[in-house]
Amino acid sequence: MNEMRALQTQNLSKFFDGLKALNRVNIGVEKGSITLVIGPNGSGKTTFINTVSGFYRADEGKVFFEDKDITNKPPHEISRLGIVRTFQIPQPLKKMTVLENLLIAPKGYGENILNTISGRWMRKEEEIVERAFKILEFLKLDHLWDSEAQNLSGGQLKLLEVARAMMKDAQLIIMDEPIAGVNPMLSHDMLDRFVELKKRGMSFLIVEHRLDIVLKYTDYIYVMANGSVIAEGKEDDILNNPKVVEVYLGAQDSEVECGV
Ligand SMILES: Nc1ncnc2c1ncn2[C@@H]1O[C@H](COP(=O)(O)OP(=O)(O)OP(=O)(O)O)[C@@H](O)[C@H]1O
Ligand SMILES: [Mg+2]
Repeated sequence: MNEMRALQTQNLSKFFDGLKALNRVNIGVEKGSITLVIGPNGSGKTTFINTVSGFYRADEGKVFFEDKDITNKPPHEISRLGIVRTFQIPQPLKKMTVLENLLIAPKGYGENILNTISGRWMRKEEEIVERAFKILEFLKLDHLWDSEAQNLSGGQLKLLEVARAMMKDAQLIIMDEPIAGVNPMLSHDMLDRFVELKKRGMSFLIVEHRLDIVLKYTDYIYVMANGSVIAEGKEDDILNNPKVVEVYLGAQDSEVECGV
């Protein structure tokens, strides 16, 4: 079963003192899918991402990437395998330009620097820059190539993170609230790009509260509450699930009414 999936957790648990932030969580991401994890504030979504990507140690359970057991591997090893995660607050190198942020992303960059001596560096550099520009064009960020990252809007920063993940040849992109604070038009643009990327076999695990925007792009949904998965399924199953309405969707509607 695991080899069919980009990601699968088995009874994954994470405890903080007495708190069960993750309680025997089973979440899977089919290859070439956009899988969404939703749930109220504090339900464990970011903890799940941190534990899967090696930023937190799991207390129980397992994480599989394709057929590899990656439980409690350090973040850089997990990233090298092709899992790239982004943060709730983007973390680009602010003083560097958009292009420079991409050029420091690729695998094997250090080795390329060593090739300088043998004169192969220039050609390699041209190839990397060309690839970076193709990715920027694909994400419609190319006009910003020489802007410092600190001058980008919130939405553009999220796209920059996606660009960096593409530079690294990510197989699975895990994103924490990629469209929070991003205007709807740019959000739809970004999600359209994800649909293009998933057709090429990339997989996405997305945590997001903006269901009004994100739902129509998703293939499968997990709902968390108090550290546990309380429901999973396709959009219709989730929207009509009374438990989900009670703990999350009902509360979301009232938030929207309050203009939050
Ligand atoms: N490093 C930590 N140390 C102690 N408790 C933590 C830590 N990280 C998260 N928690 C707790 O774990 C629970 C789950 O938090 P988490 O950040 O995973 O929620 P979330 O679903 O991402 O919420 P939000 O939608 O607000 O981002 C919360 O009660 C939180 O206070
Ligand atoms: Mg969170």
